[in-house]
Amino acid sequence: MTPQKDNWSANKYAKHASFVPKLGSVILDKLDPQSNEHVLDFGCGDGVLTKLLASKTRCVTGIDASQAMIDHARQDDAPQNVSYHTVNGYDLDTWFDAHEKAGPYDAVFSSATLHWLKEDPIKAIRNIHHVLKPQGRFVAEFGGFMNCGEVKTALVHALNKRGIDGNAASPWFFPSAEHYSHLLVENGFEVKEAELVPRMTELNTDIKGWIETFGFAFLERLANEQERAQVAQEVQDYLQPSFQREDGKWFIMYVRLRVIAVKK
Ligand SMILES: C[S@@+](CC[C@H](N)C(=O)[O-])C[C@H]1O[C@@H](n2cnc3c(N)ncnc32)[C@H](O)[C@@H]1O
Repeated sequence: MTPQKDNWSANKYAKHASFVPKLGSVILDKLDPQSNEHVLDFGCGDGVLTKLLASKTRCVTGIDASQAMIDHARQDDAPQNVSYHTVNGYDLDTWFDAHEKAGPYDAVFSSATLHWLKEDPIKAIRNIHHVLKPQGRFVAEFGGFMNCGEVKTALVHALNKRGIDGNAASPWFFPSAEHYSHLLVENGFEVKEAELVPRMTELNTDIKGWIETFGFAFLERLANEQERAQVAQEVQDYLQPSFQREDGKWFIMYVRLRVIAVKK
């Protein structure tokens, strides 16, 4: 298994980002899960959507690279037809071959996860292909081209200014629909649908809370807590004129890539 530092916190996720699984119901509807299916939830996080998925289908296997997220998902009254496993998506093929006794999945579902696999998105696609039945569906939503663009640019700029390569620090892969479709076709899928959907998104808290939850790859490049707090404040102040509404609520413009593909 690929060793990975666990930067995820289920508590921060619930406090600053509970909008993520809530807004995931659109892609869950596009999956159209059937009552006889076994579905893999790739990057299941704290299991909020996984549970919903389990209520609509025969059984769900949830995998996530974060032990903290899986621990939370397991504690949170997991239904009987869900099993959770700490597995890095890059290692899904070997884990599946060694452990998944039930055989290939009818569908792979993934919400808000695939843009985190920047190092090797092709390996992620191949692994999803590996675990699907022939004609199995791959239905996913994640960050696409220009997703959270202003926040990302402000973070990159804040690091660059301090002599750190901000772009290299970014953990995100935000592809266009054309590029991702090409990767899918090259790796054994037929693409049924691939579209970028801009979505103005109300945050639970503020930009600083969002950066604390999702911007850890940028923050960990900085020398100490004081500098981290400074960068988060700087980015929030920079975005405030356009990103804070009259009533004080904070928003970010997300751009989601929604994909439906079938294993050939
Ligand atoms: C924004 S959360 C989404 C969680 C959940 N699907 C939801 O909609 O609430 C992203 C998740 O991707 C997981 N993740 C990031 N990189 C991963 C990888 N290489 N393999 C598996 N999971 C990964 C994180 O641990 C995190 O739980």
